[in-house]
Amino acid sequence: MQILLVILIVNAFVLILCALVAVSGHLLRQTGEADMKINQQEARKVACGQALLPALAEACIYLPAACGGKGTCGRCEVKVASGGSSVTPMETILLAPERLQALARLACQVKVRQNIEVEVPAGLLAAKLFCARLAAARMVAEDIKTLEFGIEGDDELNFSPGQYVQVYYQMPWEKVMRAYSISSPASAKKTFSLDIQRVSGGIVSSYLHQLRPGDTIEVSGPFGDMFLHDDHIKSPIILVAGGVGLAPLRSMLEMLREIDFPQPVWLFHGARSRKNLYCEEYFRELARQHAAFSYLPALSNPMLEEGWVGSRGMIHELLEKHEIELAAMATAFVCGPGPMMQAVEKVLVAKGLPSDRILTDPFDFA
Ligand SMILES: Cc1cc2nc3c(=O)[nH]c(=O)nc-3n(C[C@H](O)[C@H](O)[C@H](O)COP(=O)(O)OP(=O)(O)OC[C@H]3O[C@@H](n4cnc5c(N)ncnc54)[C@H](O)[C@@H]3O)c2cc1C
Ligand code: FES
Repeated sequence: MQILLVILIVNAFVLILCALVAVSGHLLRQTGEADMKINQQEARKVACGQALLPALAEACIYLPAACGGKGTCGRCEVKVASGGSSVTPMETILLAPERLQALARLACQVKVRQNIEVEVPAGLLAAKLFCARLAAARMVAEDIKTLEFGIEGDDELNFSPGQYVQVYYQMPWEKVMRAYSISSPASAKKTFSLDIQRVSGGIVSSYLHQLRPGDTIEVSGPFGDMFLHDDHIKSPIILVAGGVGLAPLRSMLEMLREIDFPQPVWLFHGARSRKNLYCEEYFRELARQHAAFSYLPALSNPMLEEGWVGSRGMIHELLEKHEIELAAMATAFVCGPGPMMQAVEKVLVAKGLPSDRILTDPFDFA
């Protein structure tokens, strides 16, 4: 009986404590509205308590946020002339002291708590918000789905091959976003495709995998500095992908195919086993049709029953072994997991490619 009483008292104490924490949290949280001035334009009202990144999105300014707002990619940098909350530890890691002194801030880290004045670089003002409807979806590898979308209304997605969009997903308590590279040709403006690898327990990749034709999603874009432009196609191109890192390179290859591969192009694609390798037949056929295009897949862990007779090992090992005439002006595009990109960069530099000719876009920001 006494034990029961003690348990009841402890439970009651815990409940009172929880209620106190909830009430004080509510009282401490900033409420109400503040004036937000962007690029010295007329101020607009925004809700207090939220981060600057979504507050800017409310004003139709969609910043790149490759890490999804975790403060680890440094892409959402703006200048906060006045009214910003205190600098967070993530900002001190990513922004050099001179930049912080020049009022640079990460929009995902700044909380709107009072009137605020923001300067957004002109280069970050172009991205738009789109509504896209799923037209078709197919499994292309064990855990990768290619999703084809049509853009609703009069909007068009004008992007360069290699760029990405940000997909939004409304959870019960917050809206989250993730970056996904566009894998379709840039010549199509009303449609685009994404290659999505399902991450175990992943919020947005799981959401995208369960979409059905006819469903709509919200995306913003385009974003990203790793893209193919006219200068690159005047000299040889080396494309190196790990797993679903192939997605942005697929878009580049489509553009190169459309202009009939004016220079040699090598595609190195690494995957664990054949069931993780995608577009294999398509690229083999493309290589048969175009002498200037070489397709070099490698499997790190092929299954016996897959009958793989191609290269085995990590993709940077295949690259190391392969004889490529690396003209000084060649360009390499590398995309995939961080460690794979570092290993590939090392090999390319050892082969004589200047590091400023190696363009990368990491998929993960720890
Ligand atoms: C520029 C850019 C382009 C990208 N393009 C693509 C693309 O074309 N296709 C694509 O599939 N993804 C792409 N990504 C990755 C994508 O943005 C998400 O990080 C990924 O889909 C996981 O999101 P999630 O919400 O499903 O998982 P979350 O809910 O964010 O994560 C759930 C768990 O999985 C872990 N996790 C997160 N990502 C991975 C991963 N890649 N592998 C293993 N574990 C992981 C997390 O640490 C966490 O523990 C890109 C990322 C960037 C920055
Ligand atoms: S979105 Fe702000 S640092 Fe990545």
